[in-house]
Amino acid sequence: MPLHRATLLVAGLAACAAPPSATRSPAEPDQGPPQPVTDASPGPDAVPDAAPLGPPPGYAEALALARAVDRNPDPRIVEVDLEAREADVELLPGVKTRVWTYGGTLPGPLIEANVGDRVIIHLTNRLPEDTILHTHGVRLPNAMDGSEVTQAPIPAGGGGFTYDYVVPDAGLYWYHPHLHSNAQLSRGLYGPLLVRDPAQPFFGDEAVLVLDDVLLLDDGQLAPPDNGGHLGDIFGREGNVLLVNGRVRPEVPVRRGRPVRWYILNAGGARYFRLGLGGLTSWLIGSDGGLLEHPVPVTDVLVEPAARADVVVVPNGAPGERIELPWLPFDRGNLTGNRPPEPLFDLRLTDEPAEVHAPPPPDLRVIDPVYTVGAVEQTLVLGERPVGGRIAMTINDVPYPPGLEIYAVTNTVETWTIANDTDAGHPFHLHGFFFQVLDVTDADGMRVPSAFRSWRDTVHVPGRSRMRIAIPFDDRDGHWMFHCHILDHAEIGMMGHLHLHRPDEPVP
Ligand code: C2O
Ligand code: CU
Repeated sequence: MPLHRATLLVAGLAACAAPPSATRSPAEPDQGPPQPVTDASPGPDAVPDAAPLGPPPGYAEALALARAVDRNPDPRIVEVDLEAREADVELLPGVKTRVWTYGGTLPGPLIEANVGDRVIIHLTNRLPEDTILHTHGVRLPNAMDGSEVTQAPIPAGGGGFTYDYVVPDAGLYWYHPHLHSNAQLSRGLYGPLLVRDPAQPFFGDEAVLVLDDVLLLDDGQLAPPDNGGHLGDIFGREGNVLLVNGRVRPEVPVRRGRPVRWYILNAGGARYFRLGLGGLTSWLIGSDGGLLEHPVPVTDVLVEPAARADVVVVPNGAPGERIELPWLPFDRGNLTGNRPPEPLFDLRLTDEPAEVHAPPPPDLRVIDPVYTVGAVEQTLVLGERPVGGRIAMTINDVPYPPGLEIYAVTNTVETWTIANDTDAGHPFHLHGFFFQVLDVTDADGMRVPSAFRSWRDTVHVPGRSRMRIAIPFDDRDGHWMFHCHILDHAEIGMMGHLHLHRPDEPVP
């Protein structure tokens, strides 16, 4: 069992005592004075770095996720059964809400693997309609991508499909439907896939935070997916109840001075989650495709729909203090900017003496810049226009279906300009490949280069801006979708696909 597995925060595990060494970071020195984290360093009651405490009781429970059962004895193969079906879950106290689930829980079960493992998912569809399971972000073979251009729908009423692929990159990924995805996802179908690299140091007590918003009616049931009609599609439907791992405003016990590491996923269909970090010393250490090069100090973190953020937070304050971590407004357009903050979840500091830990190491990994000299350039224009008496959202003027098809050659690099011709922002997502953001040019022509390098698969393209991204393609030829991850927008047309082909393969 790798070291960090001992600090794993899913139901059941935290109860077993971790060996003392398991709570120490290999990156922290054995001797010498501990490095205070910041000026928020604790007072004279501080205990040294080596205190083998682990997370406090209740931390894992407050953020517990259902966990997929690996039924394969081979340690390098994670093989799970996933049943898509309706279920009643308790989102509001004492109220049963009918939702669509993977395995009966919302979110669906956490699938855990180590980098390089083979993941096998046997999906059975017991929903009242057809579905397809897409694994978001993993660089997998095209036939395993799970989209309407790679496979036939899995029939309702017991149809099945087996997804089988290797996970080559550490990070948080997720699975969700790719057929009527705005409706199916808003009914509750999504779940996290965490890929760990056992060579990473201890950054803090781990937890996966799946954020979502659901639109609940007075009777506690979900509003129908077409609530608000065509205008709802255009705005992008947001919910009225915020969820962290399927719970409303959980309270999470933490130790003063002891860092936590949160892998955050925004599973919402349209809402941007800008998470306030309560004035606590915090760093962004990773994004969609794993670690950044260096920790970036942050006071809040923006997670656009479908994106992921990996953050380290050091809880500090008075013993017993409650620290509120709010959802903060973010102006993605469509009148989303002028809303008050909302409580999302709370931290409760325990009474113990504060711990002192070193900050994350300054160098996390090297991310080579994508070499773009001579790269093929393509432009994708995100737009909208009337089609048959309604507004369709388009890419290069083509609505989905059938959607725009573009071409690229395997093992080449391309730079794409995502030109947003609409007033609202769109979280642009490409299947199967990571990209680096090069720069963004706003409506006034002001070009801002990306502040730091990271691997993304989903990124917010502000209204009326042009974002350039660099994509290194490999040899995984096939059909890869790209779309806005405000799923209502994808559903009314803002979706197309890339045909990545071998140099000798004829294309139209
Ligand atoms: Cu989250 Cu087409 O994907
Ligand atoms: Cu959009």
